[in-house]
Amino acid sequence: MEAAAPLVSVRQLGRSFDVSAPAIQRLLTGSPRRSVRAVDDVSFAVDPGTTFAIVGESGCGKSTLTRLVAGLDSPTEGEVRLRGRDGGPVRIQMVFQDPVGSLNARWRIGRSIAEPMPKDMDAAARRARVAELLQTVGLSPGDAAKYPHEFSGGQRQRIAIARALAGEADLLLLDEPTSALDVSVQAQVLNLLKDLQDRLGLTYLFISHNLAVVRFMADRLGIMYLGRMVEEGPAEVLFGAPAHPYTRQLMATVPDVDNPQRDREPVAFEIPSPLNMPPGCTYSPRCPLAMEICRRERPMLRDRTNGTRIACHAVEG
Ligand SMILES: Nc1ncnc2c1ncn2[C@@H]1O[C@H](COP(=O)(O)OP(=O)(O)OP(=O)(O)O)[C@@H](O)[C@H]1O
Ligand SMILES: [Mg+2]
Repeated sequence: MEAAAPLVSVRQLGRSFDVSAPAIQRLLTGSPRRSVRAVDDVSFAVDPGTTFAIVGESGCGKSTLTRLVAGLDSPTEGEVRLRGRDGGPVRIQMVFQDPVGSLNARWRIGRSIAEPMPKDMDAAARRARVAELLQTVGLSPGDAAKYPHEFSGGQRQRIAIARALAGEADLLLLDEPTSALDVSVQAQVLNLLKDLQDRLGLTYLFISHNLAVVRFMADRLGIMYLGRMVEEGPAEVLFGAPAHPYTRQLMATVPDVDNPQRDREPVAFEIPSPLNMPPGCTYSPRCPLAMEICRRERPMLRDRTNGTRIACHAVEG
């Protein structure tokens, strides 16, 4: 069988934000224009029916990248290509961390779920589809008449997922979808997402800073640091043999499931501000392996023989 074409191809994607002070203030103080490169030269591809996880600390550009893929924001460099099966369009839905913010508190949840459905669908068909979707996500058809406050956090996230499915999505952009939930509820929602993927052939772009969650969900994984992708590849390879010093550091701080109280390795340095990026490798100020070249020359993402890509001067092979 021929390998399927990627559903998502991101090529040399960049997004800068102008964060200059207002013009008059710059004139008075002589301060220059400033910009933040939230996403910087990022490339990756996601195959249909798989989960690609983006991992990195707060501020590394995960949400900006997601918004670019969703078409909610435009890149300043590069492009996002979406190609459905048979070359058709790709229907995208997003699920956010906070399901409260994505559901209208004054609407019965049946109405929220039905909102992304095609405009020409009649009322009876909508009701039937809402009932079916509620069952799909493990709730009951009668729940359609209730309001968001009548549900728990985990149930509300199930409702947000039902709403995403109502839009007949091919691609779900999941931005920290379970990080606001208790651990046991989190596991149930993750299991639901996996099950839906198997049944419906969905493709996921999964954003998380929780590596235990990523390990459970991801087929491939991209590690981001200050807007750049520093390592990328099949999840089992990266978890088995993380090579980039940053990936290694992240993986060393994964909470131990058997012993969650165990002291974690502390993060040694503050993350540099994206306003004030160091030259060369942006990770070099924190890196235990940093050499002279790292402070001078930016490492490009290159292929390794094990099927991963890495941007690091210090890692051989
Ligand atoms: N509209 C904007 N205007 C100015 N700067 C922005 C804007 N959106 C994002 N940024 C900056 O871009 C960088 C990346 O932000 P982003 O929200 O994508 O990070 P993130 O990885 O999603 O973080 P978190 O884990 O906290 O959600 C940050 O430095 C942020 O301050
Ligand atoms: Mg974010």
